Amino acid sequence: MNIFHGNILFSKNSRELAVYEDSYLVADHGKVEGIYAVLPEQYQGAEITDYGSGVIIPAFSDLHVHASQYVERGLGMDMLLSDWLNQYTFPQESRFADMNYARPIYDAFIDDMIRHGTFHACIFATIHREASSYLIRRMEERGLYGFVGKVNMNTGAPDYLRETVEESLLETERFLDEFKDNKTAKPIITPRFAPTCSEDLMKGLGTLSKKYHAGLQTHLVESRWEAEEAMRRFPGYQCDTEIYERAGLMDNGPVVGAHFIFPSEADIRILNRHGGFAVHCPDATTNIIAGIMGVSALQSQDVRVSLGTDVGGGHSLGLYTQIARSVQLSKLKWFYEPEQNKPIAFPHAFYLATKAGGSGFGNVGSLEKGYVFNALVIDGMADENIPLTPAQTVERFCYIGTTDNIKARYLNGRLIG
Ligand code: GUN
Ligand code: FE
Repeated sequence: MNIFHGNILFSKNSRELAVYEDSYLVADHGKVEGIYAVLPEQYQGAEITDYGSGVIIPAFSDLHVHASQYVERGLGMDMLLSDWLNQYTFPQESRFADMNYARPIYDAFIDDMIRHGTFHACIFATIHREASSYLIRRMEERGLYGFVGKVNMNTGAPDYLRETVEESLLETERFLDEFKDNKTAKPIITPRFAPTCSEDLMKGLGTLSKKYHAGLQTHLVESRWEAEEAMRRFPGYQCDTEIYERAGLMDNGPVVGAHFIFPSEADIRILNRHGGFAVHCPDATTNIIAGIMGVSALQSQDVRVSLGTDVGGGHSLGLYTQIARSVQLSKLKWFYEPEQNKPIAFPHAFYLATKAGGSGFGNVGSLEKGYVFNALVIDGMADENIPLTPAQTVERFCYIGTTDNIKARYLNGRLIG
């Protein structure tokens, strides 16, 4: 059992934060047992870890990130998607055929994600099964929560980063089979996006989805170019999302659609039918995509929105920076398209990064009773003589904090370095 003293903050829902100042949180067997203003009799005399003015919050969930692009952060950010893929990303990703290249990058990625307070993530690797297996194995060994995908690509990319349909299905099946019994880091089917996967590959992946009860992650209606390219390559389909539905890829596990910036009504209807996530990635959207997700408009249509860093389209693994950026972008979206959109408030953005995203991984992303104690302690944000409330501490951390302001990290109830 662990008892912590400090300020405790988490999301009740998209509108409201639950804040407990100067309180005690009791965790037992890695799960939250309760939060108390006065420590109950039964815990009197037990050891207490005191975080003083620190704010204990849930660890973050990054619903869209490319571990294989970790070394590309902050490069080629003046390009748009297609050029960026062809000039930077595809040549770089092809190097993951070499395990001596892959291992240290995946290790550094995991270390840095933990440093930034993200313990739950939906991760793209590359088409290379051996390197993808290394990544998911290391995630599981470290006790991190995730969905990790070996990427599928059989067309629309250079020879050096393309598989045949047969290879792609065979290697994906080996990957799904090898890690099907993982406890926290699970395999997920990962067709890169419609422009790099043919219809027969999609259908074959649908069969594997059913056989292994595996979910789907992909890039969905992410740019005008991508949406048009998808429709050109899949004649007879009404929208990008229908490609995955008709392949049977949306019925057997979580569905995670990155970006979802230009959805038609049909895209929204289909994503909602399968309870899929639409992942807002503010940095990537401004770096290489040039479109802004209408978060408030999508949520008024009941779309399940969450946040992602999309490194290397995004340039930082700090999901907390995306909380600030999503507030900023919602104002721009509203300014240019006021009829359909509203700015979102800080509690809403914090909710997307914690409780909303966490719901894809089980009981994580909150500090309510019964949730896994995956948590961070935030401190050091106050100016001299200007005290901050716990909510202000966390808001300022999202704007100007660094990883040094994460004073402690707890994963499955245990303090990690
Ligand atoms: N669409 C297809 N591949 C990618 C990628 O690697 N990053 C982003 N942001 N979009 C993509
Ligand atoms: Fe991406």
